[in-house]
Amino acid sequence: MSNDSEFVTADYLRRAAEWARTLKAASYDHMAIEPGCAVLDAGCGPGVDIAGLAQRVGLHGRVIAVDADPAMIAEAQRVVTEQGLLERVELHVGSVLNLPLADGAVAASRAERLIQVLPPADAPHVVAELRRVTRPGGRIVLVDADWGTASVDFGDNALERRLMAFFAQRMRPNGFAGRRLFGLALEQGLKDVKVETTVMVYHGFDDTPLQWLGDTAHDAGMISAEEHRRWIDGLRMQEALGRLFVQTTMVTVAGSVPQV
Ligand SMILES: C[S@@+](CC[C@H](N)C(=O)[O-])C[C@H]1O[C@@H](n2cnc3c(N)ncnc32)[C@H](O)[C@@H]1O
Repeated sequence: MSNDSEFVTADYLRRAAEWARTLKAASYDHMAIEPGCAVLDAGCGPGVDIAGLAQRVGLHGRVIAVDADPAMIAEAQRVVTEQGLLERVELHVGSVLNLPLADGAVAASRAERLIQVLPPADAPHVVAELRRVTRPGGRIVLVDADWGTASVDFGDNALERRLMAFFAQRMRPNGFAGRRLFGLALEQGLKDVKVETTVMVYHGFDDTPLQWLGDTAHDAGMISAEEHRRWIDGLRMQEALGRLFVQTTMVTVAGSVPQV
């Protein structure tokens, strides 16, 4: 993984969906989906959540999925067609900041790992827009990483701390998104707000952004060539020995749109 667009590819997001299967299922539970209703997945990527949501809304419900990237929507369309779900799914290329939906159009909505790819100043507008399109009483579910909690078992803790801080602060548009979700939900007036955290653990080097992190930090002059070599070789060695340990926290926040 050498750059951000490679880190957020359809292929990577499909692999990540496998690791996050339990987290995703819990996020659908938080949406309190009734059969026959319409639900929204905002920033849907390649459509990894559509089948799970379609199962919950049933044969007479509707899943609306929106992503700003036409290539992601094309991929979602391919998958949905393959799965025979096309009739129950609406796909839109569009921005979550200006959703192509009427007020109260859906019974529940979700946005997973979307807020971390947007500038922090956009986050309140995302939640406000989800609130606009979700009907009163409907649930809004936000899921995101807090990269400030990420850590790696690496012999040189000072180097590891510098690199992980660089990742959260400089390599993600909003690396601390996860910890902001609770405040955002309250600030946007959501009620009955619930929080869950899930620790994600990785043992495969290529399942993580650590190569990309080492390369970017080196290119930016943040670490020396020697530190770069130690970081990559050391972590690869840990992986070869079956001892690589990387973890980060995912935060899920769910709240209801107030009844008018
Ligand atoms: C990290 S991916 C997560 C995708 C999916 N939610 C998942 O869990 O796999 C973030 C997605 O947000 C999309 N995105 C970024 N900015 C957006 C915006 N303003 N409106 C809608 N989607 C956006 C990206 O194209 C990308 O597909």
